[in-house]
Amino acid sequence: MLPAVPFIHRFVFSRAIFRRHSKLHVKVIFRSTFGRQVMDSESEKVVQEGKAQILLLSDKNVFYNPVQEFNRDLSIAVLTLCSEDHRAQTNSEDDQFTILEALSASGLRSIRYAKEIPGVKKIVANDISEKAVASIQENVSRNGVEQLVSTSHDDAVMVMYRHRRPTERFHAVDLDPYGCPSQFLDAAVQCVSDGGILLVTCTDMAVLAGNCPETCYTKYGAISLRVKCCHELALRIVLQCLESHANRYGRYIVPLLSISADFYVRVFVKIYTSPAIKLALVYQCVGCETLTLQPLGQEHKYGEKPNQFKFTLPHAPPVASTCVHCGHRHHIGGPIWNGPIHDVEFVSRLENVASCGEFGTKKRMQGVLAVVREELMDVPLYYTLDRLCSVLHCETMSMMQFRSALMNCGYRVSLSHANKNIHQDRCTCQRGVGHHEALGKTTPCEAGQAPGGGSSYTVPGARNNCQHGAETRCKSRVS
Ligand SMILES: C[S@@+](CC[C@H](N)C(=O)[O-])C[C@H]1O[C@@H](n2cnc3c(N)ncnc32)[C@H](O)[C@@H]1O
Ligand SMILES: [Zn+2]
Repeated sequence: MLPAVPFIHRFVFSRAIFRRHSKLHVKVIFRSTFGRQVMDSESEKVVQEGKAQILLLSDKNVFYNPVQEFNRDLSIAVLTLCSEDHRAQTNSEDDQFTILEALSASGLRSIRYAKEIPGVKKIVANDISEKAVASIQENVSRNGVEQLVSTSHDDAVMVMYRHRRPTERFHAVDLDPYGCPSQFLDAAVQCVSDGGILLVTCTDMAVLAGNCPETCYTKYGAISLRVKCCHELALRIVLQCLESHANRYGRYIVPLLSISADFYVRVFVKIYTSPAIKLALVYQCVGCETLTLQPLGQEHKYGEKPNQFKFTLPHAPPVASTCVHCGHRHHIGGPIWNGPIHDVEFVSRLENVASCGEFGTKKRMQGVLAVVREELMDVPLYYTLDRLCSVLHCETMSMMQFRSALMNCGYRVSLSHANKNIHQDRCTCQRGVGHHEALGKTTPCEAGQAPGGGSSYTVPGARNNCQHGAETRCKSRVS
């Protein structure tokens, strides 16, 4: 039996809260947190979210999830900036911003895009379900956006393949499926214009977070691991999947923003034409849980032009046959995305859009984006403090104390939006050394206790030559 991973707790917890509240205070919840329920009867319900008002008929059974308002608000903020950048780059009336919502359900998202994003010329709201398309049509005319939103009743894959030609491509393609988006990705990476944006939601978090590594491989082409940083690992697996699909067509992705929220992950990536390799395998020590990355290719800049790189094969393996800290063996996961998962400059601009706009989830957007902006972009994955203390048999301490100790040892530290009880620090290759060093300075550890039940445990005084050029000498010994 696999132990539950943290996001499951979060999911179950938020679902439990939602269920409890929806029984007791359904009107309050709909009015305050999840958009406004304007009218309600046995057979129909009218919901206001942002500037859109949509009718949900019970006999049509069309999907609407009020909890995803945050996802939609964030998408509007991101697309507002993309549309603005597009206008600044083109200056042409004929080349205005176009959006495909490939899996539209009630049409709520497309209608909000039409009403809330300036400079949009055309939105196609597509769904495979006849009832959903009827509902989109009804909602489009109810909101008076017929001149901007056209409906399409087709398999999303077919719609996207019909728009592969460079002149037919969309500036933005939004995929918000049930569960896993992998069946749509081959077509999606081909029908986004050069420099355009792909927005993807994945809700099959159990697969991405390490509960079913083999299913994760068949769906996303990567092995997931059961690690404490499962939320960021999930984001990096999805980004890896997008990158490998794009690479097949000589294209590559640049992540603008990658968010883990509630029960899903949502990524926003730009797509350009040119090859690149930004993937790595992940080694996880089964004893002390230290993570080590093995890049699949090494990028070397050459020539004057910004995109001139050549690739060489990396040296392997990045770990010895047993862990240098505790003597245990390793699990291998991945490949995962090894580059930055956000664009800091874009995130700063996004914070301004979030502050100035009228969003139902404004406070949450501001909070999440502020943490995202502070994340260490050059350091993949993270550790959680409670697990570190448990592995090292140390007394727990406050995050503030631990962060101060790490910084005192010369490491950079940040929180991650994906988990409040975590930190990232400067060195990926031997981060364990830094943690042990900091823990050794701050708390008493039980003598002779080894992670994973071994008999002895020492922190080696090895020089740390990690890929980010950090050089740290371990001074302390935890035993
Ligand atoms: C999660 S809902 C979309 C929710 C919507 N984006 C929103 O924000 O409210 C997924 C939708 O995808 C549709 N769908 C499933 N498979 C599809 C396919 N192959 N092509 C087009 N639509 C599909 C379903 O009918 C369903 O309405
Ligand atoms: Zn170890």
